[in-house]
Amino acid sequence: MKINGIPTRTIRAIDNGAAVEIIDQTLLPYRFEKRVLSDWRDCVEAISVMRVRGAPLIGVTGAWAVALAVRENPENEPLLKAAETIQNVRPTAVNLQWAVQKMLATLLPREPSLRLEAALKCAAEITQADVETCRAIGEAGAGLISELYSKLRRPVNVLTHCNAGWLATVDYGTALAPIYAAFERGTPLHVWVGETRPRNQGLLTAWELEQQGVPHTIIVDNAGGQLMQHGDVDVVIVGADRITRRGDVANKIGTYLKALAAADNDVPFYVAAPFSTIDWNLNDGKREIPIENRSSDEVLSIRGVDRSGADITVQLASAREAAANPAFDVTHNRFIKGIITERGVFAPTELCLAYQDVIESMQ
Ligand code: MRU
Repeated sequence: MKINGIPTRTIRAIDNGAAVEIIDQTLLPYRFEKRVLSDWRDCVEAISVMRVRGAPLIGVTGAWAVALAVRENPENEPLLKAAETIQNVRPTAVNLQWAVQKMLATLLPREPSLRLEAALKCAAEITQADVETCRAIGEAGAGLISELYSKLRRPVNVLTHCNAGWLATVDYGTALAPIYAAFERGTPLHVWVGETRPRNQGLLTAWELEQQGVPHTIIVDNAGGQLMQHGDVDVVIVGADRITRRGDVANKIGTYLKALAAADNDVPFYVAAPFSTIDWNLNDGKREIPIENRSSDEVLSIRGVDRSGADITVQLASAREAAANPAFDVTHNRFIKGIITERGVFAPTELCLAYQDVIESMQ
């Protein structure tokens, strides 16, 4: 996407792959700053504290982390140790494991002396594939918004949650890709953006939409249901961090409540995600998807800037309070009308049937 008219991606290799440059998302939407990661441990730190975040982007960062680990030492033992650490930095988004395993499958059959070249090539391919995948998700989903416009003949109100946009991927996004594609085609639309406490990724979504000139309104997380009851939401589109083979979806905490409200108000609820987010090993999302629990500090305090633009942290409640912070929840497939992927839009159960061969080969 373009930032101030300049095409910008969330991650790119620099110095012939000796480092990667990322956008430090912990500073957004207040400051746009890039940061260089030149050691695989820097990538681990960046994923852990969420300088990079969003399932597809942490997968791509994981791939580059493996490439940096190979540069440090391409022998099996140190490489496998680093890969183990990298793929476990955050547990819910399966894209991280997927990317690390894809790198290892390419690297391990090769002689250590040949691994660096192969690692750089594979990480670059994973990065580029993410761009193309997200573009295809946008194309697959834009039609849904245009169809609603043909029926309603007024701007289509889309509700989204968290940030499944350009910042969560290498480019375009997942849930926001259909919105960008429909907007580019000239479909009148407006986006309701849930702020997404406690990390406020919705503010990243608002920042992105602002950059691209897409009409939008920020709402507090609990406003979605009320808007749906009053006919102010025509469709919900969210991203995903892991999808089971029967189409249960783990996404940012609060997604499940949006899905319940959508079901109660006959609002179609879509999930947009690449196939790399599907975990074909899992079936029952609520029981089987590991949910990340993050620090209570994220609930008890909030970071931002004051009116002069200086960084501040506000302590919302005593640091001695107990606070629970599950970062994701799971929405059962029965609440999901369709999963928008790079291969088209599938009902959750169709997803499973269409890729029966993949499932069978894994059993
Ligand atoms: O904790 P985050 O910010 O890494 O959360 C992941 C997400 O960005 C969302 O859950 C998103 O909706 C799916 S990833 C495109």
